[in-house]
Amino acid sequence: MGYTHQPLSRRSSSEFSKDTLLEKDEYHLPSPPQTTLWSRALMLIFHGILITIYSVICIVVVQKANSRITAINSNLVESPARSAIKDVQTVWAMSGEEPEEYFGSPPTKEIDHRWSNILKVSNFRFSEDQMTRWGRIDEGVRLTDGSGYLGTLNVFHEIHCLQNIYKYIHKDHYYGPMNLTKYEQFENMHHMSRLSPSNEVILISPVHCLEGIRRGVLCRGDISPVTYRFKSDWRVPLANWTSPHECKDWNALLDWAKENSVNPRKPGLVVHPTLGPAYEGNSRALKLGTELHPSKDG
Ligand SMILES: *[C@@H]1O[C@H](CO)[C@@H](O)[C@H](O)[C@H]1NC(C)=O
Ligand SMILES: *[C@@H]1O[C@H](CO)[C@@H](O)[C@H](O)[C@H]1NC(C)=O
Repeated sequence: MGYTHQPLSRRSSSEFSKDTLLEKDEYHLPSPPQTTLWSRALMLIFHGILITIYSVICIVVVQKANSRITAINSNLVESPARSAIKDVQTVWAMSGEEPEEYFGSPPTKEIDHRWSNILKVSNFRFSEDQMTRWGRIDEGVRLTDGSGYLGTLNVFHEIHCLQNIYKYIHKDHYYGPMNLTKYEQFENMHHMSRLSPSNEVILISPVHCLEGIRRGVLCRGDISPVTYRFKSDWRVPLANWTSPHECKDWNALLDWAKENSVNPRKPGLVVHPTLGPAYEGNSRALKLGTELHPSKDG
């Protein structure tokens, strides 16, 4: 036993050293690289997860921002004037002078001129492609020069309607005795007149203009905050109207209109297929042309 013991121990000592060497080979030498590989792998996985999380967050944020941008510049409705639309913050002065510009009393030539300066550029040429996309190619009014189709923009119709309400307020001035034919009167008083069965021009209040503008107000949904204040001599809170509004830059739009407007009164440009030139003489077509409202000097 003792005999076998020795070689065993001897062998074991030699093998132990071999083992330890082997163990060293297996354990100590490859070990350090093995732990760094592991930690590297762990780090890789960790960073991989982080990158994935960040990417997901990034994609979500960008998509949200994008959908907000598309909502802001939403092309829900195609308009030829889209390129002219610039969002601006505007504070409306409420000092009391401004109403004189368009709603002054009594009416003056200057006031008429301001309205007509806008309304004379209220008709435009729409392309065949646009008319097709809007499903209006068949009924559209084709300009005789083949350059496109006659159209306007709603903002001009609203302005026209406001002018008509103003004219109604001053109806004696605008619709007093006039040396005009019935049709001319009818046309001039557009939105506020109709022809009686005996062909008399009857003045009616422009309530449909009010309704159109009411819808426009709802359509725009101006959510500018308005705050209140107290005045020392007035018990009821009074509003401070000087908050900024989200507006379309009107001057940019008007510039676009000036560059792109057409004058439908240009002789021969707008012709009814059976009744003849729309805006010339006392053509019966005046009755049908009342949806358009270019100013006389336009
Ligand atoms: C209307 O016509 C009459 C006679 O034809 C003329 O005397 C009068 O001055 C005219 N009024 C206006 C505003 O043009
Ligand atoms: C309304 O608010 C503005 C500042 O936003 C301030 O200058 C002004 O004095 C306030 N009051 C009135 C009556 O406008």
